[in-house]
Amino acid sequence: MTDSAVRIGLVGYGVIGKFHLDLWAKTEGVKVVAVCDVIPERAQEAAELAGAKAYTDYTEMLNHDGLDAVDICTPSGMHAQQGIKAAELKLHVLTEKPIDIDLVKVDKLIETAKANNVKLACIFQYRVSPEALRAKQLIDEGKLGKIISCSTYVKWWRDQNYYDTAEWRGTWALDGGVLSNQAIHSIDQLCYLCGPVAEVEWARIATLARNIEAEDFGMAVLRYENGAIGVIEATTCSYPGMTTRTEIYGEKGSATFEGPNLATFKVLGEEIDIVGESAKADGRDDPKAIALTGHGYQLQDFVDAIREDRDPVVTGREARMSVDALTKIYRKAGAPKLGT
Ligand SMILES: NC(=O)c1ccc[n+]([C@@H]2O[C@H](COP(=O)([O-])OP(=O)(O)OC[C@H]3O[C@@H](n4cnc5c(N)ncnc54)[C@H](O)[C@@H]3O)[C@@H](O)[C@H]2O)c1
Repeated sequence: MTDSAVRIGLVGYGVIGKFHLDLWAKTEGVKVVAVCDVIPERAQEAAELAGAKAYTDYTEMLNHDGLDAVDICTPSGMHAQQGIKAAELKLHVLTEKPIDIDLVKVDKLIETAKANNVKLACIFQYRVSPEALRAKQLIDEGKLGKIISCSTYVKWWRDQNYYDTAEWRGTWALDGGVLSNQAIHSIDQLCYLCGPVAEVEWARIATLARNIEAEDFGMAVLRYENGAIGVIEATTCSYPGMTTRTEIYGEKGSATFEGPNLATFKVLGEEIDIVGESAKADGRDDPKAIALTGHGYQLQDFVDAIREDRDPVVTGREARMSVDALTKIYRKAGAPKLGT
């Protein structure tokens, strides 16, 4: 890679695609040169804003002259397939969360990116606040001692209108329910802080208040590979949306998070002061109300990873962990298979 700007093709100009386009303009060493959406007016609007070329066909966009990378902001069940197509053409790949909902396709995407020597990154903005990165470092250094439990409680609000704004929302083929869409941030946080989930010991999903195929309520009991246990409780039917709480307890101390923000980090007999400002926007009651510092960090990191030929902060393999956990939860709860 030379010093010239990384040329991005953005696919999917919906809720999050709009945020991405705005953030790319503030990111160094990059230029959005192509945008694609199946809805022509969206593609056109994005193209005009970015000074890029509009496409309604993804394969055509991939052949845009000089493209270096794609930014995938389409429905979750399309990410892997679109990423694979791009990687096969030696284009670097960034996807929104989750990396996909079908583990088999995720593995194929990871393999294809590796075989073609391109970067593969996934947005998980809860991971990248300075406090979260520091907490992770201290946990890995053993400050909390042996980890005993790691749990998350996601009580969010999405009304029926949210699900009705796009046909893919809440479907088994392209989205899944609260676990795979909203709680995936926290499931990723659990995997990141405590390591892979070895087994889901018990799980229950239900569709209690929304008119959708997949679940609006999910609960599970997890056992991690390191021997710790944990609980997930998640819903999109809790008014008003509450702050997500993730808790990790070790023999020597604990860390708790409110959304992406560290709320406490306490170690027996030690003064560790890494807790900063809390309660920033986390999308708990409005998908458009999310703090974008994490996104901005990851977009810049993706560009820098390409230019410096290093791994991005959240690689495909890292992003796979939450899909693996999700698959185990859904399987235990008797859900239909996710994905097309
Ligand atoms: N990180 C976050 O906080 C965050 C927040 C919201 C959404 N997301 C993720 O972003 C993704 C998109 O979510 P959204 O809410 O923006 O959805 P959306 O429905 O608002 O936008 C998706 C866009 O993709 C377009 N599209 C669909 N199929 C396409 C295709 N084959 N080719 C080109 N364009 C196509 C649609 O027309 C639409 O404009 C999801 O995976 C979601 O999980 C992440």
